[in-house]
Amino acid sequence: MNPISVTVWALESHCFLVYSVLAAVFIVFTVFHRNRLQVLENRIGDIKKVPNVYSARKDREGPDDEDDPDYLISAIPEDTLHIPYKPLRRSTEEVIQRSREYYDLMATRRTVRSFSTEPIPPEVLENIIKTAGTSPSGAHTEPWTFVVVQDPNVKEAIRNIVEEEEDLNYARRMSRQWVADLKPFATNASKPYLCDAPALILVFRQTHSMREDGKKRMHYYNEISVAIAAGILLTAVQYCGLVALTSTPLNCNARLRDLLSRPSNERLELLLPIGRPHPDATVPDLERKRLDRIMIKV
Ligand SMILES: Cc1cc2nc3c(=O)[nH]c(=O)nc-3n(C[C@H](O)[C@H](O)[C@H](O)COP(=O)(O)O)c2cc1C
Repeated sequence: MNPISVTVWALESHCFLVYSVLAAVFIVFTVFHRNRLQVLENRIGDIKKVPNVYSARKDREGPDDEDDPDYLISAIPEDTLHIPYKPLRRSTEEVIQRSREYYDLMATRRTVRSFSTEPIPPEVLENIIKTAGTSPSGAHTEPWTFVVVQDPNVKEAIRNIVEEEEDLNYARRMSRQWVADLKPFATNASKPYLCDAPALILVFRQTHSMREDGKKRMHYYNEISVAIAAGILLTAVQYCGLVALTSTPLNCNARLRDLLSRPSNERLELLLPIGRPHPDATVPDLERKRLDRIMIKV
């Protein structure tokens, strides 16, 4: 007997039995699969409930033990008064005129690498630092320290450290492409301006600070806050008719921080010699990108 004949015979003589067996198999199969699907759904639910530790940490920028209720007290008083803000209202013509004048002033700013030794009045230094201190900062954390060095011995010590490190930077640490890209600026490891300039302003970035209650105070967005403050400082230098050299001495942070007795929560971001240009100072004849290459109107 072939399989087809067997099937036909079974269906004809045991019809009820065959259909009962098929129905039972179907029910068992359905129940089994429903249970498996449920287990799978529960597992996916559990996975969703587990927080993504990496992304949560990255976005939060908060202290480690945030469960401590003391951290929920804001660093500056929560009931800080909100006061009216009514700066002098200028006419549209005046606003246009001032925007032109300010552009004209800033367009003459240049990085100068050769300084006159003529001193700067102390009040000027205080005013430009005060101006930098008006900068916005993440949650008003003001994460900056400006160390103003005028003492010739300290300037010389700074120069020695920077020149030692720059020797290594040019020889080993900077890529050949980097050294090639610096050629138009005629820079090298020798930094006489660190002694010639009447003042050096070292801009330190505070990664965090300590609250009065001894807890760590987070300095949100401290990098961009310090960068903005340094920009405002440079515009203040330009406005009062002095010049600066924006420099970032590579690998000098730890040694200069120790020399100037700055705490470990501070990182050196910029070293700015400030003063008047040497009468023979020259600057590379650089072109700036045109407006249509830096401004996109939407
Ligand atoms: C973040 C930053 C780091 C810089 N570092 C150095 C530096 O270490 N040494 C230096 O001679 N110039 C340095 N410069 C100056 C640039 O070379 C200069 O701004 C650029 O060539 C444009 O010239 P300008 O400032 O005269 O417009 C730096 C500028 C910036 C903004």
